[in-house]
Amino acid sequence: MLQADPIHFEAEMFFNKYPHRANFSFTDAIGTDLGTQTAQFGAKSAKVSVQGYEGNVFEISLANPDLWSPNPSLAPLFVPPVATDRVLPVVPQVGLMGEKSLWAITLPEGTRFYGMGEKNLAEFELSGQRTRFWNTDVWSDFPAQQWGSSPTDPPYFSTPYVIAHTGDDWLGFLLHNPYPAFMETPGMDESRVFVEWQRTGNDLILGSEGGEPHLWILTADSLAELTRNFQRLVGVTPVPPIWSLGYHQSRWGYGGHEDLMKLDAAFADHKIPCDGLWMDLDYMDGYRIFTTSEAAFPDGPKATADALAKNGRRIVPIIDPGVKSDPGYSVYDDGSKKKVWCLNPEGNPYIGLVWPGETVFPDFTLGRVRDWWAAYATKFRTLGYAGCWLDMNDPSTGPVDPYGMRFGQGTEPHEAHRNQYGLGMQMATHSGFLAHSPNERPFILSRSGYTGSSQYAAIWTGDNLSNYFYLALSIPTSLGLSLSGCPFNGSDLAGFGGDVTDQLMIDWTKAGFLFPFLRNHCNRGQREQEPFAFPKGVMGIIRHYIRLRYKLIPYLYNLFIQQESAGDPILRPLLYEFDGDDLAKVKDQFLVGPSILQAPFVTENTKKRTAILPGEDPWYDASNGSWREPGVITATKSNDSTPLFIRAGAIVPMQRGTPVDNHKELREIDLHVFIPPKWSGNVTYEYSADDGISFDYRSGGRSTLRIDLVAVDGHIAITTAETATGFGPISPRFVFHGAPASVRLDSTAPTLIDDFTVMTGKKVAVRRTA
Ligand code: NOJ
Repeated sequence: MLQADPIHFEAEMFFNKYPHRANFSFTDAIGTDLGTQTAQFGAKSAKVSVQGYEGNVFEISLANPDLWSPNPSLAPLFVPPVATDRVLPVVPQVGLMGEKSLWAITLPEGTRFYGMGEKNLAEFELSGQRTRFWNTDVWSDFPAQQWGSSPTDPPYFSTPYVIAHTGDDWLGFLLHNPYPAFMETPGMDESRVFVEWQRTGNDLILGSEGGEPHLWILTADSLAELTRNFQRLVGVTPVPPIWSLGYHQSRWGYGGHEDLMKLDAAFADHKIPCDGLWMDLDYMDGYRIFTTSEAAFPDGPKATADALAKNGRRIVPIIDPGVKSDPGYSVYDDGSKKKVWCLNPEGNPYIGLVWPGETVFPDFTLGRVRDWWAAYATKFRTLGYAGCWLDMNDPSTGPVDPYGMRFGQGTEPHEAHRNQYGLGMQMATHSGFLAHSPNERPFILSRSGYTGSSQYAAIWTGDNLSNYFYLALSIPTSLGLSLSGCPFNGSDLAGFGGDVTDQLMIDWTKAGFLFPFLRNHCNRGQREQEPFAFPKGVMGIIRHYIRLRYKLIPYLYNLFIQQESAGDPILRPLLYEFDGDDLAKVKDQFLVGPSILQAPFVTENTKKRTAILPGEDPWYDASNGSWREPGVITATKSNDSTPLFIRAGAIVPMQRGTPVDNHKELREIDLHVFIPPKWSGNVTYEYSADDGISFDYRSGGRSTLRIDLVAVDGHIAITTAETATGFGPISPRFVFHGAPASVRLDSTAPTLIDDFTVMTGKKVAVRRTA
């Protein structure tokens, strides 16, 4: 460990300044062959190791114990088997400047860039960007004038991963080192170049501000293949408990039992499904974490949890990492006795200023401290809290300079671990929940995190505002996370700060109702954002889309199952499923899984918008049941509907009827079949069901039905096969949208009944099996 300099000023953060390559000493380009080599950087040298793995995954690491201590990364990677017959797909140049390292990679002109984890850059395609990776409490560290309605960088969550599409190939680059990182992508838009030196360089630049240089490179023929391989490398998200995929209601200001019971009754009265009721800071005793105030829950939270369970609702409380520095408070006393706090350079517990005032911070980089925290999480779970909402874990220290917060009993600088502080907190909470209920899937939501967080927590994108900038931003930010190994994500629906308008509430609900994570959360003092706080007509629209999410829960849940087994994200850019130059920069459309395309209205006062329907086949317009030819279409805004299209050949599992509560039926379902008139093609779909809560699915407790569909000129033949039956029989009805020329089901001609369904607008006619 480099300890010569106990106070580490080197990486003092200026958000708009980036290391420049001219200040680095470079070695010759690293050869494309696998193996080890020694590289010379001016007077310094390092051992370079280049490894190849199956799936076209490569790793380049540099080592020199005099320059760097071993990589302090907490995140376990899932490295595929070694493959010795590979050749590095690109030739990086490596440069050093003090402890900083930089990789410069030449890519063909016109290469496009994606990913970068959580970014508030308001773009999906990321050419011509300079960006930092340094977990930041945006509202605390940027001036309000900036975060009000313009991009802020860096935000809360870091995963220094970028995707390059060269035209022929898809490449992924991951810096695997929690030190602050920076990137620069070529191809800056001319309109942003005021003086020539502002232009980003011709090479892709990836750099770390310290620590052993460690770069992973992946290559694939498609974005989908690349993303799957990357997701498996950093760890898939285990299928979450199904209740976490429902609708969640939150507000900073809910006071406890009484408020939660009122919400429970209101959701039931209005027949709006809602699985999670969230408690912000007010349930604690004076902002002391792991306490519950008696005033908030007079009979204890368990009594409230039991009462809410009758309608299938759960309580998810907030927990911050900062522990009030308060002798006599048991968590503080216990932690002090066990020496779990991060230390300042004087060897005393580091003090920040967060909600309770002076706070100390558990050092999550230490296994024994994660165990200490896990024991509190276990106890907390016993109180009847179903999940956990981890906030302020950037870590936010308020106005206090964070660099005095050192890790490893004061031996390691702040920069070495800041980015993975939230990850350590997730790991500890996760293991505490598992210790409480070993056969129950934990649900944790976290603001900050790092590469590998996918294994432990869902991520929400932090504080946003009730305005159209943040509504539009929610799409590229979530797509970036989804392509960067973080599939379970979403932003605060309708905005955290500011007063939402009726129209914005409607627009945001329609845009966000199928995001992987769906929580309506707002700040204290703002207009109330519960669906029933709006005029009746507005409430009716919000309710319709929440119910539609619940109708589609079998589809969403199966996307999560597929995510765990194969690595595909839930939210996907059009490029994930289709090729086309016109798709490269689309940031106001997205796919939910392979089959549902949304092109919501995300700008203010817009009555019409264009949308691209990609591919060669027609798309089913869910608002009226018509088939639209692919290409550019114009959609007109209407109160009830939203531009939502379903892919030709799709089989989409849905709950039957209109969900009015939290019940989730996964076995007696409808399989909606979308085949255009006269369409020919083959489709295979696997539908799975399990108990939605336990890990039994890993030991046979899941049923799977395989559906093979062949369509010839609109004549449909379906064959079904039960490929697993561990959760009992799945009984589907088949629901045909449009009028199939003929249907055969498992070699018989089924009786078809005329029926209708409502998705995003008018009633649409369907024909279904009994
Ligand atoms: C900041 C979080 O981002 C926000 O969601 C929360 O309501 C406040 N902290 C108060 O806990």
